[in-house]
Amino acid sequence: MQQSLNKKIVLITGAATGIGKAVALRFGQEGSHVIINYLNRKADAETVAEAVKAQGGSAVCMQGDISREDDVVKLFAAIRKQFGRLDVLVNNAGMQQDSNFIDMTLDDWNAVINVDLTGHFLCAREAARLFMQQPQEDSDRSPGAMVFITSVHQNIPWSRRANYCAAKAGAAMLMKTIAQELAPHKIRVNAIAPGAVKTPINIENFQNPESKEKIMRKIPYGRAGKVEDIAAAVAWLASDEAEYITGETIFVDGGMELFADFAHGG
Ligand code: BGC
Repeated sequence: MQQSLNKKIVLITGAATGIGKAVALRFGQEGSHVIINYLNRKADAETVAEAVKAQGGSAVCMQGDISREDDVVKLFAAIRKQFGRLDVLVNNAGMQQDSNFIDMTLDDWNAVINVDLTGHFLCAREAARLFMQQPQEDSDRSPGAMVFITSVHQNIPWSRRANYCAAKAGAAMLMKTIAQELAPHKIRVNAIAPGAVKTPINIENFQNPESKEKIMRKIPYGRAGKVEDIAAAVAWLASDEAEYITGETIFVDGGMELFADFAHGG
């Protein structure tokens, strides 16, 4: 438990399923007020809200397409109206739309860049504006923190995912740049880079024994990531215990970044 997250107002984008859902539940356990943003899975978002309440937190669902500036502005206006402030943004919503590079359409490119990169920019900008305006009891304390959910593919190239890798690498650099710019305001900005975590984005690969075996060979720790592994790291990074950390990425990937093949000779 992170005492500092109790009663904090936390927005999680794309929180109806997958990693976002687990992050919502984790903040629920911490006693936070969780804002569950979703695109079109209203029923799933409502189920998450009930689960957050059952964990001891409170929750509301707010629809909004984070790739659209008008939706993001409306989302933050609704937060301002209902809560008057925001303490944590978890920039989670993301998607993949894979294609051979030579067949990749501009629509495939834009779909992923718009959500995984531009969406993160829009939410981070609105969060920063809100953080900078909201009254602080103590000027030495952080007015708010952001955690971006990126991917090991911010660093690891991945054929057939040029759009996804470019978006994740872009989000990582966006995170570092705004961490530098916002640090004097005591706004912390960090990222969690998950490895192969079983979620709707890749569940098919885990269901097929051949592709599952290929994924497992890349994970020195010998198991797939659990959504709770990611949620625990997000909660800690958002908490006051991580107060002196900004501009960092924590890889939560069972060692996927460790060039696993080298374990068997160079
Ligand atoms: C992707 C997953 C993939 C994992 C490891 C994530 O960013 O969304 O589909 O399994 O990276 O490659």
